[in-house]
Amino acid sequence: MKPVKIGLLGLGTVGGGTINVLARNAGEITRRAGRGIEVTHAAARDLKKARICKTAGIKLTAKPMEVVSDPEIEIVAELMGGMDPARELVLHAIANGKHVVTANKALIARHGNEIFRAARAKGVMVAFEAAVGGGIPIIKAIREGLAGNRIEWLAGIVNGTSNFILSEMRDKDRDFADVLAEAQRLGYAEADPAFDIEGTDAAHKLTILAAIAFGIPLQFDKVYTEGVTRVTRDDVSYAEQFGYRIKHLAIARRTPAGVQLRVHPTLIPRRRLIANVDGVMNAVVVTGDAVGPTLYYGAGAGAEPTASAVVADLVDVVRALTSDPENRVPHLAFQPDALSDLPILPMEQVETAYYLRLQAADRPGVLADVTRILADQEISIEAILQKEPAQEGSDVPVIILTHRVLEQRINQAIARIEALKAISAPVTRIRLEQLAR
Ligand code: NAP
Ligand code: HSE
Repeated sequence: MKPVKIGLLGLGTVGGGTINVLARNAGEITRRAGRGIEVTHAAARDLKKARICKTAGIKLTAKPMEVVSDPEIEIVAELMGGMDPARELVLHAIANGKHVVTANKALIARHGNEIFRAARAKGVMVAFEAAVGGGIPIIKAIREGLAGNRIEWLAGIVNGTSNFILSEMRDKDRDFADVLAEAQRLGYAEADPAFDIEGTDAAHKLTILAAIAFGIPLQFDKVYTEGVTRVTRDDVSYAEQFGYRIKHLAIARRTPAGVQLRVHPTLIPRRRLIANVDGVMNAVVVTGDAVGPTLYYGAGAGAEPTASAVVADLVDVVRALTSDPENRVPHLAFQPDALSDLPILPMEQVETAYYLRLQAADRPGVLADVTRILADQEISIEAILQKEPAQEGSDVPVIILTHRVLEQRINQAIARIEALKAISAPVTRIRLEQLAR
């Protein structure tokens, strides 16, 4: 049988890695897919740029529309990123009857509902394993491996760049900006690294994970999102003193009132396996009613780990080329007419525990005022720690860990604490999860 012809959009970190993996493992890949997989066309902006892969024998163009319109191409791999022109190109490829593989989580999280509708109408596949967790086959695990379960919750370290920054700050006391620059050099960060450090990339990924876990539409706009930019080395060190580690988590949880969708730095007990996932590695805990907690771990970014997921999707698509479109695994795990309209909870209605750090005047009565405010809001304290002042007479850091409480209540308490004369700076609040059940 003739090899399947692939058109690549993008020859950067992921595109280059994909060409290298396809070339190096061509024999194994053909044995698995039943046909060879050959990149025959590729698009990039600058055709003179040095690449991490060989491009001899590939027809190169700076006009990606030529690739998605070429009648020889059966599968388009969109590995360029961004929204425009990626959305238009993917829709064009689908309209031309081509199957699509993409690593573009922003595109799927924001326009997936539209893209999957178009793909269904044309009977083509859209595969996106590389969009979440780099090389970890997390989409396949949830969509297929856990199909017998009612998924209760999932929590993941899904942004390699943020995890790399937090790990280096903790272990090597390194500066935030330095570590981010290194993540960019290593090809981990997004073209605009604000997506990584402000939490948007993790929110894109959580949108996708929640949709396939709970059978709900993609709803990026409803994800509560905070990045790692405000986590300080002091917070990392105080958390350790209490036996916790700060991780940037994406959490989706089904509750009787609705679904929580939230991305934020989180204190988690140091003894949890996921607390020990460092550097660019990602991990996702998925808890199903039948299987209980399961953990998926692997490289979350970088050329070949991501290419591993792209190539797996190419193999899947090639195997299913002749299958009846009605009998394929649905894009979002559940049949499209069986998606649920479970409400997404606003953050004020989420219940969790908290780490609070205050800058307080070192004089009698201040802590009593603070604890009275917490008691008024029915917030109970798990632990409290007052540090030494940096110099005689200066304010002291006070760290409080609370038990679980509605976010609405902690917001009211923080507003009242910040209004005290003895409190000299905004209160730092980091959510705390036990991740036990
Ligand atoms: P990258 O290194 O910046 O590569 C992007 C490629 O797309 C480049 O080759 C660029 O051409 C080409 N390109 C961009 N806009 C174009 C346009 N308008 N026309 C033609 N070519 C265009 O990005 P990447 O890191 O490989 O990421 C690609 C996608 O994979 C993104 O959606 C990203 O979120 C996702 N992803 C990345 C990783 C990772 O670890 N890097 C992991 C998972 C998913 P030039 O090279 O000529 O500029
Ligand atoms: N910028 C992303 C990260 C790439 O750091 O996780 C992988 O999706």
